[in-house]
Amino acid sequence: MGRQDVTTEELLAGAFLSMQPASTLISLARDVGGGIISGYAQQTLLIKCFRNEVYMRYPASKAYVRNVLKNIILTAEQEGQEVLDDLYDMHSILFQTEKQLAERCYKTITFMIPDETISNLTCTLGDEGMLKAVERKLVTLRVSLNMLDGDTGYSIWPAGLFLSEFFLYYPELVKGYSCLELGSGTGICGVWLSRLSCSKLVLTDGSLSTLVNLRHNLSINGILQPSGENFHTTQDVNNPSNVECRQLLWETATQEELDSFNAEVIIGADLIYDPTPLVPILAGLLRPKRNSKGSSNCSQVTQDELTINSSTENGEVGKVLPEKSKGDGNGLIYPVAYLAQAIRNVTTLELFISMVSRAGLELIDVTDTMKPPKCLPDLDGFDRSQIRIHKVFYPSS
Ligand SMILES: C[S@@+](CC[C@H](N)C(=O)[O-])C[C@H]1O[C@@H](n2cnc3c(N)ncnc32)[C@H](O)[C@@H]1O
Repeated sequence: MGRQDVTTEELLAGAFLSMQPASTLISLARDVGGGIISGYAQQTLLIKCFRNEVYMRYPASKAYVRNVLKNIILTAEQEGQEVLDDLYDMHSILFQTEKQLAERCYKTITFMIPDETISNLTCTLGDEGMLKAVERKLVTLRVSLNMLDGDTGYSIWPAGLFLSEFFLYYPELVKGYSCLELGSGTGICGVWLSRLSCSKLVLTDGSLSTLVNLRHNLSINGILQPSGENFHTTQDVNNPSNVECRQLLWETATQEELDSFNAEVIIGADLIYDPTPLVPILAGLLRPKRNSKGSSNCSQVTQDELTINSSTENGEVGKVLPEKSKGDGNGLIYPVAYLAQAIRNVTTLELFISMVSRAGLELIDVTDTMKPPKCLPDLDGFDRSQIRIHKVFYPSS
């Protein structure tokens, strides 16, 4: 290809990969942005440089990337441009002090799976599936001792532990379904979900630094292949499995982005401390959708079954019949969300419930009817009596 055929975007990527000075990158980015480091130029930098696949596999020096980012941000600010949050996030990850990094450590949670849960797993997943699910009872996660690290995503939260117990006991709620977790944090729940035969599992978080850690945790638990301390927000090329990590920031997500997940089951733990950005995302993800899979795994539960399910209390240790993505008989799928929340502030919970109702969604508290057996010892700060699980969905008529 002649020199004249090379686009400015390619020159930009090439300059970054060969570690050219920040001034060269700024000059090329200005060419892309019509003379300034515009939003478009920043987006191009993000895609062509910081999420470049070659860079992801063979990262340049941190000091170099830090310097480039600093100069780009400063220049864009001086030019009066709004700087993309992603650039700020990357910058803050690279500027983590040694002290912050030292607060990171590993925690291993031992799951002691009771017979009742084992037999449920066997029923739903078969012997082989059950063995695969419980093969590793230890879940090791990199965490931070600073609870606010990574927008709180570096700590293991009690509702995440409880939701792990819940899905272990109710694998039928996710088996064969396309599942999406909001605010995955360290991945405590995601690790278990990945073993329960979902047709697809997308773990999301808004914080890039948390996503870097999440990917690390999935790799040390044998779920994703290791890819270094990098993260890119589009599809995960290093991942041969059906598990993906994606950035999903509630404040900026579009309906198109939400639709692209095609999620049938939505999961979340300890997310409703500020329901304002969460509820619209939930409403967007739960919107009924056409069953694009034709004869999908997703059993389209009939209206009769629905009625039975909603009112079932069969006395069997609070276990109810599975209720998943619901069909309305017209080929529409009604996704379902399961959200666990430690109740720290009743007013926040009430606000969440009222926002959900105003969004036209139905909410059922299933904590008492679907109480799972304990799989975990009494860990410090893990008080099951403080946690509620809500099922949220659009009524199908
Ligand atoms: C309290 S932590 C819970 C983490 C995990 N679910 C657990 O139970 O251990 C909340 C998570 O939600 C994410 N989060 C908070 N606000 C968010 C937002 N506006 N958009 C996307 N993710 C957000 C945080 O980054 C964090 O990982």
